[in-house]
Amino acid sequence: MGKGLFITFEGADGCGKTTQMKLLAQYLEQQGYDVVLTREPGGKGLGEKVREILLNYDGVVSDRCESFLFLADRAQNIDIIVNPAVNAGKIVLCDRHTDSTVAYQGYGRGLDIERINKLNYIATNGRKPDLTFVFDIDTETSMKRVGKEKDRMESAGLEFHNRVRYGYLEIARQEPERIKVIDASKSIEEIHKEVLNQLAKKFIQEF
Ligand code: TYD
Repeated sequence: MGKGLFITFEGADGCGKTTQMKLLAQYLEQQGYDVVLTREPGGKGLGEKVREILLNYDGVVSDRCESFLFLADRAQNIDIIVNPAVNAGKIVLCDRHTDSTVAYQGYGRGLDIERINKLNYIATNGRKPDLTFVFDIDTETSMKRVGKEKDRMESAGLEFHNRVRYGYLEIARQEPERIKVIDASKSIEEIHKEVLNQLAKKFIQEF
C-alpha cells in the first residue's frame, strides 16, 4: 500500500462503529499492515481532556462553543496523530471525524452547514479521509443500544438523533465515492464482511 491511508468511522451513537473499527484493525494487522487507531473527540493527551469537557460538562454550552471544541480537538488529532502516521505509510482508523460535525452540529443542532464545511477545512488543513464508513441504523434501535447511562450528546433526544441520521445519509448521497453506507442492523460478523468488501472494492489495486 505504501502511501498510507486515512479511514473514518461514522454513525449514530450506538451504531457499532467502534466495534467494527477494532475488528478491521485486527484484520489489517494480521495482514501485516501498520495500523494506528484514534478517535474524535479524544485521540490522546489534550484531546482526551477536550473529550471530557464535551461529553461530561454539565453547565450551559452554546452550540457554537460546542462546535469549536470539536474542531479544536480535530486540529490536534490531525496534526499530532493522523498526518504523521499517514505520511509514514501507516493506515489510520479514526472513530468519528468531520462528518460528525456536519451531522451533529449541522443537521442536529441546526448550524449552517456551509460554514461547518469551511471550519472543518481549516481544522483538518485540507486532509480528507480516503474512505468513510457510515453505519446506518434506525434511531430507536441505536438509542436502546446506548442504554440509560447517556452522556451529554446522547441525551439530546430522539428528534435530534433522527436529524443526525438523516444528515449522515444526506452527506453520503453527496459524496458516494468517499462515503459507504453500511446497514448496521445486521450481525457484527456480517457487517465486518461488508466493511472488508467495501475496502477491497475501493482499494482493489492495493489488496
Ligand atoms: P463517541 O466517541 O462515539 O461516543 P462514545 O464513546 O460514548 O460512543 O462520540 C462522542 C459524541 O460526540 C457523540 O455523541 C457524537 C458527538 N460528536 C459531535 O457532536 N460532533 C463531532 O464533531 C464529533 C467528533 C462528535
